[in-house]
Amino acid sequence: MTGLVGEARTLVRERIGFEPSIGIVLGSGLGTVAEAVDGAVTVPFDDLPGFPATGVQGHAGEFVAGRLGSAPVVLQSGRYHVYEGHPLRTLAAPARTLSALGIEILIVTNAAGGISEGMDPGELMLIADHLNLTGTSPLVGRQVEGESRFPDMSEPYCLELRAAAKRVAESVGVTLREGVYAAVHGPAYETPAEVRMLARLGADAVGMSTVPEVLVARARGIRCLGFSAITNRAAGLGDGALDHEEVMAVGRLVGERLGAVVTGVVRSVYGDGK
Ligand code: HPA
Repeated sequence: MTGLVGEARTLVRERIGFEPSIGIVLGSGLGTVAEAVDGAVTVPFDDLPGFPATGVQGHAGEFVAGRLGSAPVVLQSGRYHVYEGHPLRTLAAPARTLSALGIEILIVTNAAGGISEGMDPGELMLIADHLNLTGTSPLVGRQVEGESRFPDMSEPYCLELRAAAKRVAESVGVTLREGVYAAVHGPAYETPAEVRMLARLGADAVGMSTVPEVLVARARGIRCLGFSAITNRAAGLGDGALDHEEVMAVGRLVGERLGAVVTGVVRSVYGDGK
């Protein structure tokens, strides 16, 4: 990998001193997984070329590398969103860097508004598929080395990993509902009419992230697994206005269960004792 991503990759690799197998992107208020990482080494985005500061509360903007059980992992705390107006190459930079570091699996998490019945605040959704309604893709532009020009998206979220997630959730007593995640541009939350439209399009939850990372990962042959922490009923379905602080607070509550499932999946796919 050449260019800024290549430089970022070299810098992170030097600091962490190992090749990670699994990358995990932590959404707003979903940082509890980080507490389970042994021997954590933190690399702030500030130290990396091509990684401007992330602009949202609750997103520190750093990689945290270490072991989750026996698996070598890199967590990404903080992410770039389409609504921040970054160039497409910035949107793609963290996933490209994780890929250049050697990950084979990317686990993505986010906070989302619940649309279908049962997607209530505090629920955890396993992402079965997504709708890219952001109006863009980080893959637009010149083809990047190591990426497919026309990535196959028929299994964006790996069936085998989803099955593992369901097994783990059941074994730790966490309810996991599978559903379709609609990614919208933001930053305004949706109108009630937009939420009705999303429901008709087949969306079970809505948010403003995740899809860019998954597009980059799939273009590079990385298997993906995704979870949405349902933090609120989408606009017009619950009572009252949506508030970012509330979204974050519910996210933190769901974070604990999400952490248990993510940690369990990592252990199960990596295999203990390796
Ligand atoms: N809409 C979009 N993004 C979100 C929501 C929502 O209702 N909740 C958390 N992120």
